[in-house]
Amino acid sequence: MKKSIKIIIAVIMAACLVSFLPVVGLYISKAPLAYTNADVVNKLQDNKGEYFGFIILGDNHAGFIMDDSAALKIIKSMNRETRFKKLPIDFAAVAGDVAFKGSRWDYIIYNKLRALIRYPVISAMGNHDDAKGSYRLFRKYAGKDEFAFSDRNSYFIITNNINGTVSEEQFAFLEAELVKSLSYKHRFVIMHKPPMSPYQQSWYRPEVVPWSYRFMKLCEKYKVDIVFSGHEHMFREGELGGVKYITSGGGGGVILHPSGDAGGFLHYLVVRVKGDYVDYEIRKISPPVWEYFAYYLWKDLFYFLKGIF
Ligand SMILES: [Fe+2]
Repeated sequence: MKKSIKIIIAVIMAACLVSFLPVVGLYISKAPLAYTNADVVNKLQDNKGEYFGFIILGDNHAGFIMDDSAALKIIKSMNRETRFKKLPIDFAAVAGDVAFKGSRWDYIIYNKLRALIRYPVISAMGNHDDAKGSYRLFRKYAGKDEFAFSDRNSYFIITNNINGTVSEEQFAFLEAELVKSLSYKHRFVIMHKPPMSPYQQSWYRPEVVPWSYRFMKLCEKYKVDIVFSGHEHMFREGELGGVKYITSGGGGGVILHPSGDAGGFLHYLVVRVKGDYVDYEIRKISPPVWEYFAYYLWKDLFYFLKGIF
C-alpha cells in the first residue's frame, strides 16, 4: 500500500477515535439531578424584554450510542448560541422522543445529555418515550406531558398526541389555552406528531386525519405563529391557513429519511422573537466523523444510487 494512502487511513481512524470519545465520557459521567418541565417554567417567570430566542429540537432518542454521539455534537453547537451575547436564549424544547425506546437506561442518558445543555430544557412526550409503559419514567425525568406557559410576550402550549389522536378533553384544553394566549403577541404549539406532513406536502394522511383538520382550524382561528413537531426524522416546513408547521426531528436520532439535501440531516432550530417579529434559523450539524463513516456516508450513497436506478 502506498505511504500516502496509509497516512490518509491513519488520519481518518484517528479522527473517528477522537469523535467517538465524548460519548464514552457521557456514559461514564455521574448522573446529575433530574428536573421537570414545571421547574423550567418557574425559571422563565421573571424574564423581561421582548427580544429573546429559544431552541427547538426533536427526536434525540437518548440511549443509543449513535444518537447520543450526535446529540453531544448538537449540544456543543447549541451551547455556543449565546456567544457574543447577541441573543438571550431562554430555553430549549425537545419536541418528543427524548428516549430511544423508553427504557430506564434511555432516561438516565437523556438526563445526562440535558444537564450538558446550557439552557433549561422543556421535554414534550414522543411515542418512544411511552414505549413499554414508561410513562412513569417520563413523569420522573420530565414531569407533565401536557401544559402551557408564558415567556415574555409569547405563549407556549405543549400537548401529547403520541397515540395519533387528540381527545375531546385535549381539544378543550387546547382551546382554553389558546384563548388565554390571546393577550400575548405570539403563540407556539409543540407536539410530537405533526398534524400535516410538509415532507409529503399534504395534511391528509390516515394517521392524523381524525384530528388534524380540526386542530389546524383551531390554530388558524387563534393565529398560532408556529406549530413545532418531531416524529419524522428530518427538517421540513410548510404553511397552511396562515400557520407555520415545522417538522424538526433531527436532534440526534439516526436519520433514516431522505438524503441530506431533502431535509434528512441532523439539526436544531434557533427561533428568535423581537416584538411582533418571529423568525428562525436552522443549524445543520454534521455527524461525528465515526458515525459518518459507519452510517451517513452509506445512507447518502443509497439515496444517490436510488436516484439513478
Ligand atoms: Fe423519533
